[in-house]
Amino acid sequence: MSKLVGLVGWRGMVGSVLMDRMEQEKDFDLIEPMFFSTSNAGGKAPAQAKNETALQDAFNIEALKRCEIIITAQGGDYTSEVYPKLRAAGWNGHWIDAASSLRMEKNAVIVLDPVNMPVIKNALANGGKDWIGGNCTVSCMLMGVGALYKAGLVEWMSTQTYQAASGGGAQHMRELLTQYGTLNAEVRSLLDDPKSAILEIDRKVIAKQRALTGAETANFGVPLGGSLIPWIDKDLGIGKSQDEPGWGMSKEEWKGMAETNKILGQGEGFSTAAIPVDGFCVRVGAMRCHSQALTFKLKKDVPVADIEAMVAADNEWVKVVPNTREATIQDLTPVAVTGTMTIPVGRIRKLAMGPEYVGAFTIGDQLLWGAAEPLRRMLRILLDA
Ligand code: HSE
Repeated sequence: MSKLVGLVGWRGMVGSVLMDRMEQEKDFDLIEPMFFSTSNAGGKAPAQAKNETALQDAFNIEALKRCEIIITAQGGDYTSEVYPKLRAAGWNGHWIDAASSLRMEKNAVIVLDPVNMPVIKNALANGGKDWIGGNCTVSCMLMGVGALYKAGLVEWMSTQTYQAASGGGAQHMRELLTQYGTLNAEVRSLLDDPKSAILEIDRKVIAKQRALTGAETANFGVPLGGSLIPWIDKDLGIGKSQDEPGWGMSKEEWKGMAETNKILGQGEGFSTAAIPVDGFCVRVGAMRCHSQALTFKLKKDVPVADIEAMVAADNEWVKVVPNTREATIQDLTPVAVTGTMTIPVGRIRKLAMGPEYVGAFTIGDQLLWGAAEPLRRMLRILLDA
């Protein structure tokens, strides 16, 4: 008998990408899916349903308890409300979750199996039941350059991110595109006239950006189209004084070090020291690919050709992009990567600071490797266990 697998939040953006990937990889052939809904219990389950053809109430603990495995992309508020009740009711199944709520819990594993299969296997052997998808930026980064961490080469890493609108959610993507349209409309007649003055166009655009209403910037809070926002997620407010590391850090920036180390099974809660990871997380006007410029201090001088070979051999999705202008502009952009499973890593070069300092640039589709894919792969690992 196939395992009964509950799916929650399958209609949202991450959930829809997850459903598509499960369909493509024929995951539904291996499970008895049970679809839950927070708003339409009793309605008709989607076509992938087999015996469980009615939507179940996603807040019904008894219904959830029937599942051996639950996968949720419903979001953090749902997890915070339902997960503790479900465990308190004695449910002992596997919980696979896209939300960050449980990520740093002691018993939770951040799943990214091409990078941390040993950590997952070890937790499974010790009765682990909570499998949480990582922060999208961290997961995409480790899919690209995990080889350097696995080889124990990284003394520290600094990352400067260029994060897409999708990281905020579907409404954020709409807002970005609407802003682009609004700005274009503002200067369309001037653009159509090849003799118009560019500084006149520029003046009109900035005036319009500054005049965007609260409704036009409801999701990001300020204009993103034609601009950028160098702060993502909450102000953590950690660190006692402004002269300590951690002071003035955004939550997204904090996740970089905390999650990288937890995924790799090192740092707090493990027996080895954490590797310092820090930098700035910036929202840019891309749609769904997160990009990042990485600076490594390696523990020793490793030739670029060796670094490229290690990165390329790490997993079947990573692709080293030669550090040439042409290859970079063709293959190392959000436009090239969106909707694909490929994780390109390019711009690999030694930096002026010394032979142990290496730069790289990497990109990932934050809805695929950054969110949905590690979840469905964890489902497969559980089905194979
Ligand atoms: N926090 C990420 C972002 C997405 O805002 O881009 C979720 O991992």
